[in-house]
Amino acid sequence: MSPVTSSVAELQTCLLTADAEGDAVARAARVLAEGGLVAFPTETVYGLGADAGNGEAVARLYAAKERPVFNPLIAHVADIDAARRIAQFNEAAEKLAAAFWPGPLTLVLPRRAGSGVSDLASAGLNSVAVRVPAHPVARALLAAFGRPVVAPSANRSGRVSPTRAAHVVADLDGRVDLVVDGGPTRVGVESSIVSCIDEPGSPPTWLRPGGVAREAIERVLGTPLAERPRPARSAQDAPLAPGMLESHYAPRAHLRLDAADVRPGEALLAFGPGAPAGAVMTLNLSARGDLTEAAANLFSHLRALDASGAQTIAAMPVPRTGLGEAINDRLARAAAPRP
Ligand code: TXA
Ligand code: MG
Repeated sequence: MSPVTSSVAELQTCLLTADAEGDAVARAARVLAEGGLVAFPTETVYGLGADAGNGEAVARLYAAKERPVFNPLIAHVADIDAARRIAQFNEAAEKLAAAFWPGPLTLVLPRRAGSGVSDLASAGLNSVAVRVPAHPVARALLAAFGRPVVAPSANRSGRVSPTRAAHVVADLDGRVDLVVDGGPTRVGVESSIVSCIDEPGSPPTWLRPGGVAREAIERVLGTPLAERPRPARSAQDAPLAPGMLESHYAPRAHLRLDAADVRPGEALLAFGPGAPAGAVMTLNLSARGDLTEAAANLFSHLRALDASGAQTIAAMPVPRTGLGEAINDRLARAAAPRP
């Protein structure tokens, strides 16, 4: 299946700053109810929201992102009761929701009949991905709208995820109705995704490293997570773990991983103290070597280094523990050969 690229109508994109009176959120809820597309901040990255129950709005969302329609979306809801109306929770899912919601964790669960999430949004699967975000603007929007909102990251498919409203505008201006600016996002990498679909004798499966560290999840479960199937190399062999394509989050520049030095003409994505000199531009994910700070800076630093015009971005090694797993996952995808 190919991306939906046909007829992306040129829209007038409106940019509003989230305000204390909630005017921007009220407007955003109205746009969603009318079938429009709204980009809004979550604590992980900016999401591009559509009414989950409106198949036409969901189709427009896929088209705006140029996202392949085999890649299902996450349904965002205000609280666990709303999540229980669209999905079936087993014991593991209950534990994880109690420990991490609201927050940067997505659960893949069996989808309930009459869930109100359009078939297109879950790509025809019997499962559905659900998440209760923690960002105050996202929470206010979900409360005001009152129904599930599907929201992929608000970037064009395959590009670096947006952690600021300006990133959304750079990718999607003229393709979405409204962008609500809530400032830079706190976590900076997408939610972790865990599948809790009962398979006899099998623990929940780790589908995507993200804003909640694997170690924290395993502590709550009291058991190691099962590994997800190997990532798909192309759309053709994708369906086992949809959306987990190897090349993703791709800047225009080539990425050189585990760099210990800087070569002529390179930009440098540094980590920790003692970054090598000589890059055309250097940005440090965290000079004090803090992984939480590094995750928060990852996508905006990649975008800024890409904008320097360097052909190659050299990326220094980042430890693989805690949020470092998500950082390394995103860097590996950004460096992967492009389809
Ligand atoms: O932090 C986040 O999760 C952000 C914010 C906006 O909430 N959203 C986000 O959405 O990252 P997106 O669409 O960029 O990534 C969702 C991932 C995709 O890889 C998709 O394949 C996977 O979730 N997914 C969705 N439904 C699934 C399902 N039923 N089974 C397996 N994977 C699923
Ligand atoms: Mg994405």
